[in-house]
Amino acid sequence: MTDRKRIIAGNWKMYKTIEETVSFVSNLIPLVKESLVAVYLAVPFTAIRSAADTARGTNIVIGAQNMNDASEGAFTGEIAGKMLKDAGAEFVIIGHSERRKHFRESNALINRKIKRALLDGLQPLLCIGETSEEREEGRAEEVLENQLLEGLDQIGKQDLLKVAIAYEPVWAIGTGKTATREVAQEMHHRCRDFLAKRGVPADQMSLLYGGSVNSDNIRDFMDQPDIDGVLVGGASLSLESFVKIVNYSPKD
Ligand code: PGA
Repeated sequence: MTDRKRIIAGNWKMYKTIEETVSFVSNLIPLVKESLVAVYLAVPFTAIRSAADTARGTNIVIGAQNMNDASEGAFTGEIAGKMLKDAGAEFVIIGHSERRKHFRESNALINRKIKRALLDGLQPLLCIGETSEEREEGRAEEVLENQLLEGLDQIGKQDLLKVAIAYEPVWAIGTGKTATREVAQEMHHRCRDFLAKRGVPADQMSLLYGGSVNSDNIRDFMDQPDIDGVLVGGASLSLESFVKIVNYSPKD
């Protein structure tokens, strides 16, 4: 067992109104108060304030799913990290594969967003992951290494310690197809090793697995030595399944 922070994070994507959020978070509070892991919820922008107010003083941490890389400016429709912080967010997901794919986010942009999040006092949760084509072509490792190198470029050690990383193979997101526990463990181990060899304090950074995590497979991932938590999409939308995931029973 390491002293790395263990995190179970829900990513709600573009789901839930303010009312649904408040009801979910209020019901969640008593059900996860004994949890041994940190409980993170990345809610829609509109619900951050109400979620954070509802969760205040509990072990539930509210965050956002994206932000702009500028501190402020004439960028119609965008949102700044300091606005998220002001609304009560404590962390922000950056570089999710849906943003990389649908909004063409590059590693360079993701790197700027991470730096901005750190300046704005938000914990960045950097997502990395290979597509099925990249895996079939034997390029998974190279893709992850580039995402890590470019995404974390020029970030100092003290700041790196605030970053969490989620390895989410793109082919496992929302497909019901997960990486096997062996593959997930191996990829996490390789990422940690790769970072450590480049002077990144990876042994102290939380590495999460994401992609079709549910209450039946949570233990497979949480029991692996290099997996410190999970990022959950679909199964975090139902209170019942998210509670089961957070309160999973570790191997004795
Ligand atoms: P999923 O999504 O759990 O629905 O596969 C994970 C994610 O997108 O972070």
